[in-house]
Amino acid sequence: MELLKRLTEAPGIPGREDKIREIVKKEMDGICDDVRSDAMGNLIGLKKGSGNGKIMVAGHMDEIGFMVKHIDDKGFLRLQPVGGFDARTLMGRRVIVHGKEDLIGNLSSATKPIHILTEEEKKKELQIKDFFIDLGLPSEKVKEIVEIGDPVTLRQEFVQIGDSYSNKAMDDRAGVLVMLEAVKKTKKHPADVYMVATVQEEVGLRGAVTSAFGLEPDLGIALDVTLAADFPGGEEPEYVTKLGQGVAIKIMDSSAISNHQLVKSLKEIARKKDIPYQMEILPRGGTDAGAIQASKAGVPVATLSIPCRYVHTVNEMIHHDDLEASINLLASFLSETNPGDFVPTNR
Ligand code: CO
Ligand code: ZN
Repeated sequence: MELLKRLTEAPGIPGREDKIREIVKKEMDGICDDVRSDAMGNLIGLKKGSGNGKIMVAGHMDEIGFMVKHIDDKGFLRLQPVGGFDARTLMGRRVIVHGKEDLIGNLSSATKPIHILTEEEKKKELQIKDFFIDLGLPSEKVKEIVEIGDPVTLRQEFVQIGDSYSNKAMDDRAGVLVMLEAVKKTKKHPADVYMVATVQEEVGLRGAVTSAFGLEPDLGIALDVTLAADFPGGEEPEYVTKLGQGVAIKIMDSSAISNHQLVKSLKEIARKKDIPYQMEILPRGGTDAGAIQASKAGVPVATLSIPCRYVHTVNEMIHHDDLEASINLLASFLSETNPGDFVPTNR
């Protein structure tokens, strides 16, 4: 899991994916026949097949984070979110401000210490606009190193917890890992496989829009994490998925309804190969599949999801077995799929 550690620890807020892109590029260079990036910064790796159509596989490289919005005369920073962190989980966290150099900061909300809070003040809901970063430096020094717009990421380290792995940015570096490992495993495949490590997914699937437009794929598979809300506080019908119960084959979310034939085929392959899987319906949220589907005159798409607890917190947690199942299902799918099979013929 050394690669997953490196992928999740690298910074890369939407629009500033340079560091993570460098890491992914090195990995793609070892697997692909051709690797390039486009004007948006999407990284596109081609692994040639036997010439039978084009499959686009997408996993987003960007992670949720912040930009520096304001520096006050005491040197405290205010934040613009890029992607939606759960504000309730941000109190007392450490961040890295990526200025001229990387600075560690304390994240706190503009509130009094708990000792002197009134009952009324304790009930106040936390909002991102109330948070600030303390860099422990005077304003003049801060302004020498930090500029408006500089990226801010959460400081967190990769850990194994039982049979699971936890860090920030499992969304969606886990998807990027599955893409790389699955393609590595696929020796022969009918279609040309375009691995796309997309940018700016967390602000609205923007990288997938342009890369699908440029590639004109015949079929698209997005890889992303999904909710595993199977912990105290939730009801079983709202779990979406369960951690450790296998790769999730997405039926729908608010960005796309997966191509029905494609869903059936993924299920059949999973059964045939004894790969643990679960079906997923996500009431709210989307993946790159939504953008790929709406490109050209329409593209058949599906999403393979990696169940994840505590999504959009710094403790995103995925299970070893789910990761393995996701890699195996994608690898098997690529090795036997002809994209043409999924275009409706009864038009
Ligand atoms: Co996300
Ligand atoms: Zn994601």
